[in-house]
Parts: sequence; C-alpha cells; structure tokens
Amino acid sequence: MTAQIIDGKAFAASVREKVAGHVARLVEEHGLTPGLAVVLVGEDPASQVYVRNKGKQTREVGMLSVEHRLPDTTSEGDLLELIEALNNDPMIHGILVQLPLPEHMNSDLVINAIDPAKDVDGFHISNVGLLGTGQKSMVPCTPLGCLMMLREHHGSLSGLNAVVVGRSNIVGKPMAQLLLGDSCTVTIAHSRTRDLAGVCRGADILVAAVGRPKMIPGGWVKTGATVIDVGINRIPKEDGKSRLVGDVDFDSAVKVAGAITPVPGGVGPMTIACLLANTVTACCRANG
Ligand code: GUN
Repeated sequence: MTAQIIDGKAFAASVREKVAGHVARLVEEHGLTPGLAVVLVGEDPASQVYVRNKGKQTREVGMLSVEHRLPDTTSEGDLLELIEALNNDPMIHGILVQLPLPEHMNSDLVINAIDPAKDVDGFHISNVGLLGTGQKSMVPCTPLGCLMMLREHHGSLSGLNAVVVGRSNIVGKPMAQLLLGDSCTVTIAHSRTRDLAGVCRGADILVAAVGRPKMIPGGWVKTGATVIDVGINRIPKEDGKSRLVGDVDFDSAVKVAGAITPVPGGVGPMTIACLLANTVTACCRANG
C-alpha cells in the first residue's frame, strides 16, 4: 500500500482563487480593498523569502500589499510606533510582524501591540484566549491550513485520535486546540514525551511540528493514518546544494500512512493562502 499524497500546492491554489473572488466582490460591491501590512526587521534570509512570497501572493489576489523593511538596529520603540500607525490606518486590515525578531526586542510585547482585529497571524494573546475557549478569533495560518487539509480529506474528524508532535505557540498548541474543536481526542507530544514512538503509533492523525529533519520514521506511523508534516528543514546535499525535508521520513512513512503531505508542496503553500483568507476575514469583520 502506498499513501495518498495530499497536494497542498493544488489546495492552496483553490483557496487563493476563492479569496481572489471574494476580494473582487468586496471591491466591486463595497469599494473595499483588503490591505495587508508585513513588517520585517533585519536581514534573515529565510524571512526575506517568506516576506517576498507573501507580498507577491497578496497582490495576485487583488489585495493591497504594504511592506515595511526595517534594519536590525531598529529600536523596539520605533517598531511599536509603526505598529500603532498601522493599527490606525483604515487602508490596512491585516498586520503581520515576521518572526523571529532581533534579540533586543520583546516579541510578546510587539505582537500584543497589534490590534487583535488586525492580527492575521492569530498570535495576539486575545486571539490565543478566544481560540482556547472556542470563541470566534483570528486563527494562526499554519494550523488553519493543516485543519483545512484534514477536513477535506476526512470530512468529519470527530472521535479520531490526533497526536501533535511539537508544543510551539505558533503551530503545536493552536493545532491541538483546533483538533479539539473538531472533536478529536488530542495528545500533544514533545521531546520529553515517554515512548514517543508508541504515542505516535496510536494516532489516526499525526501532525509533526518539531523542526527536526526526518525525526519521525515510518515505523512510528499507524497503518492507514493521515500524516501532516509541518516541518520545513533545509539539509545539505552531497553536491554542496541543499534540499527541503520535513519532520517525517517521507520515504518510509508513505508506505504505511493512508495519506501524507509532502515537503515541499504540502503545508507550506497552505500557510500563505490562509494568511490571505484571514486578511479578507479581518476586512469583512472591520466593515460589518
Ligand atoms: N515566522 C515563521 N512562521 C511565521 C508565521 O506564521 N508568522 C510570522 N509572523 N512569522 C513567522
């Protein structure tokens, strides 16, 4: 048996198409153009690639894209001033501050300075609390993309055993909340979990979000399980170049799983598509 490959690239394209249709209607019927501001502090090469892609895709669906690139010597006070200006800018409906921030900045303070209604990352403490109590919130993009793929593949997730490996605020914890919201029985596992292999083998849905290349072998995957690989790890190749691999050892897992997301082309494209969808949601909520 070999697993069905969940094509995140194709799914993301269909989400972007829907978003573009929604944007066109907002422009035509209400004279409203959703606007997304992305703030990048410093020169981190991976962050620069992400920010460029976000800007390009935002424009492609017909939204306003504003980028603020600041040097890594920027003071926290100056960044907070920029966020305040964006909070008060009626053209801007979504604000994303690219992480990680330089070490001299307090990320929690910066994120919590964003107007929660414009927090399209869903990282503001108000949105975290709303999600945790099952209320309407901005939902973090990567877990939202994973949930959309799982719903598309399974239909109902009710009663399934879900194991999330990784306990980050950006992916692991919100992913667990979303799965719980869909009535899964949820376990959050991490580097200190005893018998991690055994815990993973109990999963009907296995979400890997640890940031360690190929950490989860096929032998940890239950036959027929759905595997969602959030990892995007760059590893060196023999020819001196590099390639991307996930947190799951795809070649062994694909022989056991019922369905699996590839890396690249799985979760990654869905994250930006969900960011665009969240920006439209923020624009609609701001305008009643
Ligand atoms: N850095 C890595 N992933 C993310 C994300 O989803 N949002 C932000 N703001 N920064 C990130």
